[in-house]
Order: sequence, then structure tokens, then C-alpha cells
Amino acid sequence: TRVAVIGGGQSGEHDVSLASAASVVAALRTGRHAATYDVVPLTIDRDGTWRDAGDRPIGLVGAVHVLRSCDVVLPVVHGPRGEDGTLAALCDLAQVPYVGSGVAAGALAMDKWATKLVAEAVGIRTAPGVLLTRAGAASYVLDHPVVVKPVAAGSSQGVALVRTAAELGPALDAAFAHDDRVLVEDVVVGREIDLAVVATGPDGRERLVSPALEIEVDGFFDFDAKYGGGARFTVPAALAPADRAALEAAALATYEALGCRGVARVDFFLTADGPVLNEVNTMPGFTATSQVPRMFAAAGLDHPDLLDLLVRDALG
Ligand code: DAL
Ligand code: MG
Repeated sequence: TRVAVIGGGQSGEHDVSLASAASVVAALRTGRHAATYDVVPLTIDRDGTWRDAGDRPIGLVGAVHVLRSCDVVLPVVHGPRGEDGTLAALCDLAQVPYVGSGVAAGALAMDKWATKLVAEAVGIRTAPGVLLTRAGAASYVLDHPVVVKPVAAGSSQGVALVRTAAELGPALDAAFAHDDRVLVEDVVVGREIDLAVVATGPDGRERLVSPALEIEVDGFFDFDAKYGGGARFTVPAALAPADRAALEAAALATYEALGCRGVARVDFFLTADGPVLNEVNTMPGFTATSQVPRMFAAAGLDHPDLLDLLVRDALG
């Protein structure tokens, strides 16, 4: 099976994506299924230039040509112009099967405001919040601590905890540097718990929910904590049975409501009143330090097996 693995991309998560893609390529080439897969790595530079495995620029038309020469595409690109449905659209138009969510689910999950609206509509709690554009930001009055975040970004880029009025302006500027829409949410007090959901079985109709993973960090789970090794993961998280059941149900309901496919990581705060959805990643991190490989490893599905499951699901 010839599988194209795309890494890089034009978002602020370019480097994270390169690390994710490298780890995916290594798992496919050296893992248990190495004999099954002929891996074709492709890279998208920050400026959008596509490069082949030999680092030669090949142009968008050349890239489509390579994709069409493959049986399946694994688009390991995080953030806007990747995970947001754009690469799914390219594969759809090129008529090549691909791992992961389709156009609509990717676009909805990339948009934290749309995700909130969809989740609330199916009874999943999210942090109370307001949407600000630059025009509306001037009249926003801070009267309690909030989290300021770009609507569409990843790896906590442009996200800040704001406690005082003096912190608000710089936080909004940082968030608007990533997106024209910014979400201002109440601070949720709770444990950070992530679960992943995978489509499996005939026609991808069955669902596999990973063990829950708890993130503990001194302070904020920001970019540095995410990739600097400052966070501690526990999987499976120690959970009361009722909490585990509520988290699994909420993860599944979120996955279904957004119409996800492949793997999605659904991130929650577990509060005294149950789960509060934080966000959904339709192409979650696949680096050596990322959550998803560790979650499924705890369920006995190692990195090569997880990828094999995803690729086989995409091939139908
Ligand atoms: N957005 C990063 C890659 C993650 O979800 O792990
Ligand atoms: Mg994310």
C-alpha cells in the first residue's frame, strides 16, 4: 500500500507537524506493518511550497500528481490550511482516500466557536464565552478572570490567561495576531482530561474510545509545557466510574455531532459538575511526546497498529 504522509504546513504548528509526520513515517517504515507500506513523505513549507521526499519543490500540481499515485493519504498537518478541512478538500478533489475527518468536520473542529455551538446543541457543556472581532473588542469589559484564545489556532498559540484589565490588551493583540475572531471564555476549574475516538469496523461505523489521559502541569498547559516536557501525563487517568462514563459519552457525542472520521482527540476539563468540553483536534499531535499515541498504547494498540487501523479505515 502506497501511503503519502504530509507534514509541515502554513500554520503556526508547522514544526509540531513536522515532528508528528516524522514520527508517523518512522512508525510506518519500521513498525510491525513496515512490509505493508510504501511511505511517500511530502512536506509543505511555511510559504505553502510543496516538497517531495528528496526536498525538491514540486508545486501544487506536482503534489496532486504524487497524491494520485498513492493509495491513501495521511495528512499530518495541524492547524489552519491542514487540519481545518483544506487538505481533506484537496484529497476529495483529487479523488484519493485519506485518513481523518472530512471537510466539514475539520472546519468545524478548527473553529472553537463553531465547536462550542455544536457541542452545546447536543447538551455538552463548554465554558461560557463571548466572540470578539477587532471592532467589538474595544467595548469588552473585563470583570472576572478569562482565557483569551484565537478561534482557529492550535498548540495554545495566542492563548492567554487574563486576570487584570492591564493584561487584557496585550492578550487580545496576541490572539488577534492569529485570527480575526477571538474567544473570551470563563476560566474553568477542573482536571484536564483528554480522550481520543477512532472510527473502525465495516464502513467506519464502530467507535473505539481510548483510555482517558490526564494532563498535570504547574500553571498553564501552554506551548512550552506541551513541547518542553513540563507536563505530566497519566494514562489511564484515575477516574471514578461515573466520571469516566460521562467523559466517554461526551467524547463520543462530540465526535458524532461534528461528523468526525479517523482519529479525533477531544479535550475536557473535568469539573465538580462533570465534563466541560475544551476543544477537539481532528489531526491531533503524533509526536513522541503527544497524547494520542500514549492513550492507545495504554489500550494495547501501539503506534504502528493505530496507524494501520487508521489507514485501513480510510481505504474502506
Ligand atoms: N494541536 C496539537 C498538535 C494537538 O492537538 O496535539
Ligand atoms: Mg488543538
